[in-house]
Parts: sequence; structure tokens; C-alpha cells
Amino acid sequence: MSDKMKIRPAQGRLGVLTPGMGAVATTLYAGVLGARKGHTKPIGSLTQMGHIRLGKRTDNRNPLIKEFVPLAGMEDLVFGGWDPIPENAFDAAMTAGVLEERDLLPIKDELSAIQPMTAVFDPKFVKKLEGTHVKTGATKMALAEQLMDDIKNFKEKNKCDRLVMVWCGSTEAYEVPSEVHQTLRAFEEGLKNNNESIAPSQIYAYAALKMGIPYANGAPNLTVDAPAILELAMENRVPVCGKDFKTGQTLMKTILAPGFKARLLGMNGWFSTNILGNRDGEVLDDPASFKAKEVSKLSVLESILQADQYPDLYKDLYHKVRINYYPPRGDNKEGWDNIDIFGWMGYQMQIKVDFLCRDSILAAPIVLDLALFMDLASRADQRGIQEWLSFYFKSPQVAKELYPEHDLFIQQTKLKNTLRHWMGEDLITHLGTEYYDS
Ligand SMILES: NC(=O)c1ccc[n+]([C@@H]2O[C@H](COP(=O)([O-])OP(=O)(O)OC[C@H]3O[C@@H](n4cnc5c(N)ncnc54)[C@H](O)[C@@H]3O)[C@@H](O)[C@H]2O)c1
Repeated sequence: MSDKMKIRPAQGRLGVLTPGMGAVATTLYAGVLGARKGHTKPIGSLTQMGHIRLGKRTDNRNPLIKEFVPLAGMEDLVFGGWDPIPENAFDAAMTAGVLEERDLLPIKDELSAIQPMTAVFDPKFVKKLEGTHVKTGATKMALAEQLMDDIKNFKEKNKCDRLVMVWCGSTEAYEVPSEVHQTLRAFEEGLKNNNESIAPSQIYAYAALKMGIPYANGAPNLTVDAPAILELAMENRVPVCGKDFKTGQTLMKTILAPGFKARLLGMNGWFSTNILGNRDGEVLDDPASFKAKEVSKLSVLESILQADQYPDLYKDLYHKVRINYYPPRGDNKEGWDNIDIFGWMGYQMQIKVDFLCRDSILAAPIVLDLALFMDLASRADQRGIQEWLSFYFKSPQVAKELYPEHDLFIQQTKLKNTLRHWMGEDLITHLGTEYYDS
């Protein structure tokens, strides 16, 4: 058993700041506000509904996670956000079309009170949006300072004790880190000189980390994985994690693929196609934004299957991912997967998955969990990459020399063992020899 870590208590209110107040963010706000009034339950949230086993199987110790670790309560959360579209959270939720009016009306007043702050926005990075509610400033550093002022004002006005930031903004164009992303010094120079490679999401992350606020990246674009921004997180002792919420088709992939691999079934093709009609789908219709998503989606299978170690099974795998913007479908995405696998003596089999999924319904509890766990990590004095939160991401951020762990069940074990470790409980290895006579 390790020593229990010192974790500061979750006193007072926690402000959850989301750059982006679209489908995911407003579904999060509505679910939390609805749960507070007893209209709904936080289904899909590990922090709210998950249990954790402690000790031996015979000990019968299986508390709720929220009773085991000192998390902020849902009643202590206050939401705020930025968006280049000036709709309040009620109107934005109606536009997003994820939730029915009957679920939104009882919380209309609370949602309408969440007005977006003016965004740091650059159409170069999100071509399909026309932002009208945006900040202006002579330099990108001036914009970062304006964000810091927003954050200070929000904290004061809402009497928050602590803050966390989770990027729920649109997917920005794919970017390979350039020179300006290599060191904090270069990045700060770049902010002052309006370096064109600095994207808005990076300015938000800079502002948050400068103020010691944990930052989680829900989209696949380059943000806290840029070395310069990670350097700031380390210097200011702030936790970060990312990237790209694991929902929908990729969630299915990381549930199914580890199973095929565990049973040494071969695979020669996995074709995934999606139709969706929400704003995210429209943004992803732009090839530059889709490229960021594609990179994040493709890496999952390759990494799980390890073709280099299992060439007989996976070396010829043909993996294709398509996203098609199809307005009639709204937020209710349909994802088809065709999986060509082979077994004993090379005989072929096929699996078809048709997932009629609701992306934001799957994403909202992820944002809630990330906000609460990142706040916990901050109170436990953790800094830099929080790999134990890989569970929530399509492209989990890991140390430079590591490959990411994509298997959902390994990720879950890692997350729970991290909590056990912090709380001074035995890690669970599943060895189980203690139950048998030797
Ligand atoms: N829904 C999911 O399951 C899921 C899964 C993985 C990742 N994501 C990512 O999460 C993000 C949010 O998804 P969504 O469905 O809510 O999309 P959305 O289009 O409904 O919402 C995104 C919002 O971000 C705003 N925005 C764009 N640039 C901004 C900026 N610079 N500052 C502040 N706001 C900005 C847009 O105006 C929009 O309102 C997207 O990047 C998406 O790719 C979503």
C-alpha cells in the first residue's frame, strides 16, 4: 500500500470554462442543470455513477468514485464559455438540436443566463464558420491578455474558488508543430509578433495555463501537445490532457479491436463511414479540419493492433475513415463499420456495425468527468500530461518516448489504479493468488 497523497479539499465553487458553446458544451450544461433539479441522472459519467473496487474481492468494498476521492460536487459547478456566435446557451442548445425542447424549457432561465464571452477566433483555422462575436487586438498576446481578464472577471462575478478549462470549440485546421511551438520563449515571441501559426485554441490554453488553470483538449487540433505549451504547464505546475473526446465510432473501435487482438484474430480491412449533419459535421467538411480528425481517428487501430509485432495478422490492414456532412441527420450521427477479419486457417469473416449514435450525448459526460478529474489532479499537485485520463480521448497525450494506450479496458484500469494510488489503497493487479491454497 502506498502513502495517501495530500489532496486539498474541494471547497467552494468550481468554474468550468468551455471555449466553444455548441452541441457538446450546451448538452453538458443542460445535463448538469437538469440533474441538479432531479430531472435526469448523469448517465455515462464515471465520476458520478462509477464504483471502484478496493482491496480483495472478498472485502466487499466498492464505493462510488465520487465518495472515494474528494471531487467537486455537481451542485458546486458554474459554467462559462466563449463563442464567436453570440447565442446564449439556451438558444445555442436549441440550434444544436441535440436535446428536446421539453428537456430544455425547465432550465431555460439558467441556460439563458450563460452568455458567451467574445471569442478569440480566426477563420483561417475554422473555414466553415463566420464569427461575429470576436475579440480584436493589436497582437495575439493582447488577445491572450483579454482572455485572462475574462477569466478573472468570471471568477470574481461567480465567486469561484477554482477553475478548469475544457476546449469544446470547433476542430481547427491540421497543423504540424512549427518553430514557434517548440519553446515557450518562441511561443511568447510569436504571440507578440502575431505569428500566423498560432491558432486560437493555443491562445486559450496559454491564457489558462498562465493563470494556473488546468486545460483539457476535446478536439484533435494541436494545443497542449505543442512542446511550448507543455513547457508552460510544467513551469506553472498545471495539469493538461488531450486530445479529441473518445465517442461514437472510435469508442466502438477501442472496445472491439482489443477483443479481436486478444483472441489473435487477423484483420485485413476496417472501413468506417459516418453521416452527420450538425455544425461539427459542417466544419469537418473542410478538408483541413477533417485532416486533424482523420489523423486522430486512424492512429487508434494501428496502435492497438501493433502490426509490426503481429505481421501475420495485421500487416495488410486497410483502414479507411470517412465523415460525410449530411444535414438531414442533425446531431444524430450514423456510423457504419465494415470489419474484415480472418481466423483459423485464414478463413474470412465479416462484422458489420451500424451505430445510430448521438455524439453529444456521449461527449457531455466526458467533459463533466474531465472537469472534475482535472480539478482533482490540480488539488493533488499534479502537473503536465495526465496520461491516466487517456480513457476519455481518441489520441491520448503521453510522454514523448511512449506510444499511447488505446485499449479502453487498460485505460480504465489505469485510471482506477491512479485513484487507488493517490488514496493510498492497494493497486489491483488481478493476480488473485491469495484466494487459492498454494
Ligand atoms: N460530439 C462529439 O462526440 C465529439 C467527439 C470528439 C471531439 N469532439 C469535438 O468537440 C468539439 C465540439 O463539438 P460540437 O459537436 O459541440 O461542435 P459545435 O460545432 O456544435 O460547437 C463548437 C462551437 O465552437 C465554436 N467555436 C469555434 N471556434 C471557436 C473559438 N476560436 N473560440 C470559441 N468558440 C469557438 C463554434 O462557434 C461552435 O459554437 C469539436 O471540435 C468536435 O470535433 C466532439
